[in-house]
Amino acid sequence: MKQRGKFITLEGVDGAGKSTQFQVIADTLQQRGVSFVTTREPGGTPTAESIREILLHQPMSAKSELLMMFAAREENLQNIVRPALKEGKWVLCDRFTDASYAYQAAGRMLPKEWVDMLADFVHPDLKPDLTVLFDIPTDEALKRLSEDRDRFESEDRLFRERVRLGYLELAKQEPERFLVIDATRPKEKISKELREMFQTWG
Ligand code: TMP
Repeated sequence: MKQRGKFITLEGVDGAGKSTQFQVIADTLQQRGVSFVTTREPGGTPTAESIREILLHQPMSAKSELLMMFAAREENLQNIVRPALKEGKWVLCDRFTDASYAYQAAGRMLPKEWVDMLADFVHPDLKPDLTVLFDIPTDEALKRLSEDRDRFESEDRLFRERVRLGYLELAKQEPERFLVIDATRPKEKISKELREMFQTWG
């Protein structure tokens, strides 16, 4: 049986520069010859991408939002993440369950136990091996967002602040899993650091 691949996730508030660095990590793994797949949440499969469209643009209750995040997650896990890991491939995933703790529990103020319960239902067996968290002060992140904003990006400053603190709390609880990046630093410096790390990590 093949050894399970590595599961890497990227997290951060909207506007932290996660997407640019996602590409840097993917390019580094590619150059290194690692066999891997990339995906994102909510999304990754046609069904999950349809759920994403609803989540990002349609009004709904916080509870529906949480349930739909996990419905999309189940699709992504079932069709992309689990098969790849089983084949020994690595998975680079743009957001995962930590985002539900940060956005739906901390941000929307839903009970954390609801997220625990759904995580235990959908992926009792799976946790990222490494989570790269891009941390940036709320106001700084806001400046980087375009005018065309989705439902999450349109939330107020207090929501964003709760999300940021929610993420930092998760990182504090599991320092061995989280790599916290100070995303206020120049983009090139962060890319260089990540390139160097991912040339050997794992
Ligand atoms: P993205 O813009 O980074 O692709 O993420 C889409 C939005 O979805 C982002 O604002 C964060 C939000 N989100 C949650 O609220 N909960 C979750 O569990 C996930 C995966 C994303």
